[in-house]
Amino acid sequence: MIQANRLNQVSEYYFSTKLGEVRALKAQGKDIVNLGIGSPDLPPPPQVIEALNRALVNPGAHQYQPYKGTGEFRNAIKEFYKNHYQVDLNPETEILPLMGSKEGITHISLAFLNEGDEVLIPNPGYPTYSSVTKLVGAEAVFYDLNEAGNWLPDLKELAKTDLSKVKLMWVNYPHMPTGASATDAVFQDLVDFGKKHQILIVNDNPYSFILNEHPKSILKAEGAKEVVMELNSLSKTFNMAGWRVGMLCGSEQHLKTVLKVKTNLDSGMFYPIQAGAAAALHLPNQWFASQNEIYASRKEKILELAKALECTPAKKQAGLFVWAKVPEWSTSEGFVDHVLHKYSIFIAPGFIFGSQGEGFVRFSLCETTENIEGAIKRIKP
Ligand SMILES: Cc1ncc(COP(=O)(O)O)c(C=O)c1O
Repeated sequence: MIQANRLNQVSEYYFSTKLGEVRALKAQGKDIVNLGIGSPDLPPPPQVIEALNRALVNPGAHQYQPYKGTGEFRNAIKEFYKNHYQVDLNPETEILPLMGSKEGITHISLAFLNEGDEVLIPNPGYPTYSSVTKLVGAEAVFYDLNEAGNWLPDLKELAKTDLSKVKLMWVNYPHMPTGASATDAVFQDLVDFGKKHQILIVNDNPYSFILNEHPKSILKAEGAKEVVMELNSLSKTFNMAGWRVGMLCGSEQHLKTVLKVKTNLDSGMFYPIQAGAAAALHLPNQWFASQNEIYASRKEKILELAKALECTPAKKQAGLFVWAKVPEWSTSEGFVDHVLHKYSIFIAPGFIFGSQGEGFVRFSLCETTENIEGAIKRIKP
């Protein structure tokens, strides 16, 4: 059967094909150090597993759950946003639990975009923003980020362009893949920009607790709820990527619109997952400190590895990755293949995040210090 036209514009996710190649090399006996993907290898908090286990034997655990999530989970999100970001949210109307923020990107796009609407998308950026935009028949309009501009959007330049068809803008700070952070002033400028040009701004915020001194939410900016929504996720913060659990926060009106899509696509999230997620969100700051201690020592080693490979990382980066310039003699794809075949180390090429990612690679911190040290020894025995 011939595929739907909407699929003609998207290709298979880079990692889904490249990881096949990595698996084939492994099958040939190659000991691959995988620094390509951001899937946390550390365990979730034990309190979360306990809460999940307790919830499994709850008499109602296996029934359909409320479309908008359990009250327990929404209240935990409310407290999490208050404690860590100083943002007040109404748990009844301004919080929507999701099966991961990737799901949210699709729901938001289905909820707000008509065919032909334009969407501002960061270049480089998380590839799902553009693929989902294309799947729903909207137009991806990329805004360039670059090193000289600290990988932040140049709103003055954007304002000079024709924004009349733009309905939605994706932002993602701390930024993946570059690790750049936004200040409060940048978030405020984004809110003001959204208001002035009637653009819905969505900040995708899964990395704010990883190697980031001051976790921030764009919802703290003045007047934010009018034009802003924020996606958040437990995948990276609590090592729960496989659980598929996250959240969308914003105004009642915006969330109602997203809920119209969601109620037609799924029927509530498995109760024990919500119970475990609520337990995670209640954890004290010690949890973040313990994870960051591990990530900081890994990062030190990754910086050493990057240097051994003649790559140049930017100085200050938040999040789960190290973003670095490849040596002049290579493209990002050529460099990744060279490192994979010569040293059996897999890293992500910058071009997969957009043309502005060309010339860069992304190292993940989701490998043990020992394995990263092993990788360094392959280059400098
Ligand atoms: C920027 C960004 N947004 C969203 C996601 C997806 O997160 P989730 O696991 O919550 O769907 C990722 C995962 O890699 C990401 O890097």
